[in-house]
This record gives sequence, C-alpha cells and structure tokens, in this order.
Amino acid sequence: MVEVTPPVPADSSPGWAWSYEGYDPAQERLRESLCVLGNGYFATRGALPECAADAVHSPGTYAAGCYNRLESEVAGQRVENEDLVNLPNWLPLRFRFGACDPASPWLTPDTHPPLEHRLKLDLRAGLLERTTRFADDEGRHLSVRQLRLVHMGDPHLAALRTELTAEDWSGQLEVESGLDGTVANTGVARYQQLAHQHLTHVHTGEAPGNDTVWLRCRTSTSDIRVGMAARTTLDSGGDAVTAHRPGHVVSLLRPHLERGRTVTVDKCVALHTSRDPAISDPLHAAIDRVGRAPGFAELVRSHRAAWEQLWRTCDLEVPGESGRILRLHLFHLVQTLSPHTADLDVGVPARGLHGEAYRGHVFWDELFVLPFLNLHFPEVSRALLNYRHRRLEQARFAALDAGRAGAMYPWQSGSDGREEAQRLHLNPRSERWLPDHSRLQHHVGSAIAYNVWQYGEATGDAEFMHTKGAEILLQIARFWADAATWDEAHQRYRILGVVGPDEYHDAYPGAARPGIDDNAYTNVTAAWVLARALDLLCSLPEPRRRDLFERTELATEELGVWEDVSRRLLVPWHRGLISQFAGYGELAELDWGHYRGAYGDIRRLDRILEAEGDTVNRYQASKQADVLMLGYLFSPPELHRLFRRLGYALDDTTWQRTVDYYLGRTSHGSTLSSLVHAWVLPRVRRSEAWRYCHEALAGDIADLQGGTTGEGVHLGAMAGTLDLVQRGLTGLEPRGGALRLDPAPLPELSRYELSIRFRGHWGVRVRLTTDDVRITVPASDREPIDVAMGDHSVSVAPGETCRLPLGGRGPLSRRGWAP
Ligand code: BGC
Repeated sequence: MVEVTPPVPADSSPGWAWSYEGYDPAQERLRESLCVLGNGYFATRGALPECAADAVHSPGTYAAGCYNRLESEVAGQRVENEDLVNLPNWLPLRFRFGACDPASPWLTPDTHPPLEHRLKLDLRAGLLERTTRFADDEGRHLSVRQLRLVHMGDPHLAALRTELTAEDWSGQLEVESGLDGTVANTGVARYQQLAHQHLTHVHTGEAPGNDTVWLRCRTSTSDIRVGMAARTTLDSGGDAVTAHRPGHVVSLLRPHLERGRTVTVDKCVALHTSRDPAISDPLHAAIDRVGRAPGFAELVRSHRAAWEQLWRTCDLEVPGESGRILRLHLFHLVQTLSPHTADLDVGVPARGLHGEAYRGHVFWDELFVLPFLNLHFPEVSRALLNYRHRRLEQARFAALDAGRAGAMYPWQSGSDGREEAQRLHLNPRSERWLPDHSRLQHHVGSAIAYNVWQYGEATGDAEFMHTKGAEILLQIARFWADAATWDEAHQRYRILGVVGPDEYHDAYPGAARPGIDDNAYTNVTAAWVLARALDLLCSLPEPRRRDLFERTELATEELGVWEDVSRRLLVPWHRGLISQFAGYGELAELDWGHYRGAYGDIRRLDRILEAEGDTVNRYQASKQADVLMLGYLFSPPELHRLFRRLGYALDDTTWQRTVDYYLGRTSHGSTLSSLVHAWVLPRVRRSEAWRYCHEALAGDIADLQGGTTGEGVHLGAMAGTLDLVQRGLTGLEPRGGALRLDPAPLPELSRYELSIRFRGHWGVRVRLTTDDVRITVPASDREPIDVAMGDHSVSVAPGETCRLPLGGRGPLSRRGWAP
C-alpha cells in the first residue's frame, strides 16, 4: 500500500512555472524536449506515458555517456555512427474503462481528444504535472493528474504518480504500468535511413512480491548492460498481475472507482547501467534500489530539497520574462550537467540529454557552457575537462595519423574520443547525401584549451592546471605550432585547409581539396593558445616542469617555435577589416533580399543553395559568428593586446567596422550565432544588441531553428544566455586571482543580481543596476577578494560589500564609504 497524501501542488509563482494548454500534436515533440526531467545522470523526455513512439510522440530516456555504434548503408556507402542510446522507456502507464476488456480502447489524446489538457513544469521543484480530462462514447468522464520526477538527490530514481478520478460514473478501470525495451533511436526524421536499433538481449521478469517488474538488456556493440526495475502500487490496495510481451513487461491493476473518488497509482523506477561504480550488476542494483526507495511523497520531499540546494548555488534574479526564460535555461543546463556529472566520464552533449539530434555528441559547445559552470559547479567543469584529458591519447593518435604533432581533438566526440563527425550528411531539402567536411574544424582544440585556462582563472586549481590542464594545453599548442606552415611570400605562418566556426565555407569555389586557408578565428585563437601554453609552462614549479618535459619529450627548441608562431600567424584583411579567411572578400555578394523574399526563413542558406544546384561556398554569407567569436572570447583590451602581439593594429573603429560588415552577411543558422552577437554588440552597437539577445532567449522556447528543438535543446545557447547576464553584460572576468568588471548593461537587462562561487567563497553576490555594480562577499574566514574595474581596484573582505559606480562617477568604494 502507498501512503495516502494530499496532492503535491505545482509551484504557480509566475517566474517558476512553465505551462502548455491544450493538446496539439504538432507541438508535442517541442513540449517533450522542453519538459524533459533529468538529473545529470539520466533524463527523460516529457512524453505522455500512455503514448508510444510514432509520428507525434517521441519518448526518450538517455543516460549520460551511454553510446553505441552501428553501421548503415546510405547513398551506396557504408557509414558508421555512434549514438547516445535511447534506453528502455520507463514511462508507460495507460488506462481504459472496464476490466480486461480487449475491445475497450486505451485512452490517449489521439484516440479520445481530451476535453482539457495541460502540462505544467514546476522549475523550483523539478516536477512535471500533467492534467487531462477524457470522455468516452458513453459519456463517462475520467480526469487524470500525473506528477513526474527524475530524482535530483538519488540519480538512479524516477517516479510517476497518477491520480484517476471517475467524475460521473462508478466502475472498473484497467491500468497497465510497464517497462518497454522495444524502443529504438527514432527521434530524428533525418536519421531514419540509418540503423537505429541499439538495444539487444531484452529480458523481463518480476521481482519477489508482486508489485515490482524488471527489464534488462544491453547495447549491441558497446556492450553496456542496462537494468531497470519498476514498482507500481495502488492506494486502494489490490494485487497487480504481471504480463510479458516481447520486449515489454507490465503490471496490470484493476481498481474499482467510485463516482467522484480518486485512486492513486504510484510508479517508482530505478535505472542502472554497467558504467556505474559500486554495483555488482545493473539489474540487481536496480531491483535493490527500487525495493528500498521510499513512497512518492517522501521522494518528492527529498527531490525538492536537492533542487533547492541547486537553486541556491546558482541563484539568478532577473526580472520579467527574460528572468523566467533564463530560469528555464538554467533548469535544463543543470538537468544535463549536475553535481552528479562530477562522478561521470562524460562531456557536454550539444543537445543536452534531451533528444537524439547530433547523436548526443560533444562539439566545441562546451566553450559556451564551462565558463558559466566554473563559477557555480567547478567540480563539474573539472570532470568535463577530465573527459577531454582521458581522450588526450586518442587526440594524439588523430594528430599522428594526420601527420601532425600534438593533439588534434575531434570535431565531434563520443565514447572514446575518436572523430565521430559523419562523412556524409543529408540535405533534407534536396534529399541528397553530401560529403561532410565539418571534421576540419580543428578550432575545437582551442576551445578546449580556452576552457582549461578559464577554469584555472576561476578556481585557482593549481593541482589540475599543473598536471592534466598543462598536458592538454601543451599538446594542443604543439598541434598548432606544427599545423602552421611558414610562407616566404607573406613572411608569416599560415594554417591551411581548415573549416572555421561558420561551417558554411568548407572549400574554395571549384577547389579540388576541402578546407579554407587562414581562418582568422582559428589563427588568432591558435596564437592565444601558444602564448598561454608558454605562460603556463613558465609558471610550473621546477620539478613538475621537468616531469612534463620528460614525459612529453618536449624540447626547449620547440618553445622557441611556439613563441615565433604565436607572434607571426597570419590574419587576413580586406577593405581595412578582418577577413573571415583568405579570399573571403573576393567571394560574390549574396542577394539577401531575393533569398529572404523567396524562402522567408533563410537560416539554412547552405541547404537552400545546394538544393538550387548552387553552393554557399561562392558567397560572402556565413552561417554563424566566426570573426565575431573573437569578441566573444576576449574582452576588448585583451583582443587589442592579442592583435598587437601578432603585429597588427586593431583599434575600436576597425573592430566596429568588422562587426558591421559580418552583421550584414550572417544568416544565423545556429542558435550560437544570436548568442555571440548578443554578447559582442552591447560594446559595439548597443542599440542593436537587444534584438539578438531576445533571439538567443527565444531560440528554444519558440523553436527558432525550425523544428530542431523537438530533437533536443541547444545547450550551448541556453548556457550562453546565462553567461551573458553573468559575464557578458557585467564584463565579469576572473583573472589573476581577482574579479575584473566592465559592465555594459542593456536598457532591457540592466538591473539584476546573481550569486557566484569564486575561489572557495560560496554565494558571492553580484548586483547590477543602471548606476553601479555591487559585490558582496559573504562572511567567512577566507581571504578578501580583489575586485577591479577600469584602473581602480579594491579588496573586499568577507562580510563586506563594494560599490562600483558606472559611468566614470568616481573610484570604487566599500559600503560605508560610498554614498
Ligand atoms: C553549429 C556548431 C555547433 C553544433 C552543435 C551546429 O549547427 O554550427 O557550431 O557546435 O551545431 O551544437
């Protein structure tokens, strides 16, 4: 028997609730993605428990790092793909009138259009509430209320409470609650021609006692064993009957409903895989865990408590609708990368644990994620960097195979760190499979190096920086030094045959070889990596430096080359502004008006042009920020210093003209694009910044990339918007042990506050208003924090607040000195 408890109310305070009214099949996939519940270990889409996968519904449960590879044949070629595996579905729970009457249909919104239907996500508590009213042909009304959680405290548990109320009838209901191992990776229509059956050896059974059923299976090639157990109980008592169908196991319950009365069915589920530490076998662990799990009310209590702690750790108070969206973004970020992630060997999946797009792969998107996490969950950042460090050897092999020194990290990474980018991709517009050269985006290495450095600045974690951090940085620097070739004519080093962040340009028009030359972003970041690697090597304690030189067979002469390359890499220019790559300025101008008129949405201009028999390679048209990425990574003074070091003068006017130029030539075919523009423009073109900021905020909730959110959220852009208010608009920069600030608030985002964790200080409060920024260091026995803005700096002791007036209205002051 489960304990009888009053319904758990969903939080209805406006800033914490996210609701969808009515049933709309066309919206279902989007809602499933935005209503995902997860805990960093696994996540489950917000699919309706009574609906199986079909054209409308796409239930999915994904465990972080649980990949499997399959071979397929497309366009006459054999291709191999590694996917984040859709695990057995734990949600199934369906109901119908009568008892064991096969003629009685199961009730779903598709068979019985609901009289009322509502989904409500309670962000504060991490609960998804669903309410639906059904009616059948005989006029019987049944209302269903479900509450769902994926436990944030115990990452192996999930639970679903279902309250069924017979509004105007009395009689029998049949309820079937089960586990479904027949699932496949069918969530992305574009991948339908690829093999997608990852689970094999599905076995089911029932545990002693008759309320718990189990399912075990394994992935076909990675041989990850999965164990799942579900305990289903009815508040009115009565035994469940277990039934098995191929790949399924179900508990059947037959409650008798009285008019106006509610019966409650609770389902508690445990999930383990053979990747888990401290277990004997996944099935035993799952059965044991579900057997020991408390009742639903207690699960909700402990789950809420875990969420409360998370919200405290990354408190963000932004007023209005922006604040509500940011909270949703934070919710999904933390559900993908939570403190539980710190124990896992996983990277940052570009689409969260929310869907199957990009196959759960890890790209450079961590560049938009780790700087935010560093100031809240540094142990999670460290784990994500460890994921890269464990695959350093694989990146060394990749470099070796390409005839290079150092480490060449893959553009797309999965289980073992080999290159997972596909060799062919489908243009859904033309239905042609095309060669995919995205693996030439070697700039991913610089993103990893940048994150190592930022992590070190934010945390002061010398132990990591002097060991794994230094090893990663050194091998990436080595790769760049080797990839750079000396060009006599230019008297500069060049990096040839790459693809930049823009992605559209993967070759010169008509060229036989893929790749473009002298991508400004690639070269400037490579120069930065080389310079930082030299800095880090210099700062190492002597014994450690010696060890590192010995272990990596680093010769002192190499450092001379690094220094030289870091100062003499080529940055191309045309018309007095930075060229995205050599020859960009000579490409044809696109008739943007014509394409907008003809197609409306031209974000995926590459697909449009290819379908027309043309190629985007011919045009000055970028998918996303490329040169402008430099303004995302580096503050204006740092960018100027970098260019000076490279022997170029980059003044404010040149940068501004460069920004203007690309602003008119970018189609924003990635959610990352509006984010980067929102970051760069407040300091260059303030009046236009909000448009991009708004677009970055709306990216997923409004599904701006045309149907892609339903295949998983865009985690980089979500985290990026959080970092936009944390570091972008405040100019907050942890550097040299101090916090630097350089605010550039927007009228629409000028008054907010947040908490960060900085070098052992928990809950450092940052408050931005139109007049000033205030930093409060909470009382503790730790050292003061040095805070700097412009030429002024002040040391803020625990328990003190400093006020930094904006608009050059005087020096910094601590509370008590300032008016
Ligand atoms: C973007 C890449 C990004 C990837 C995964 C692509 O559309 O162009 O920059 O890394 O999506 O999010």
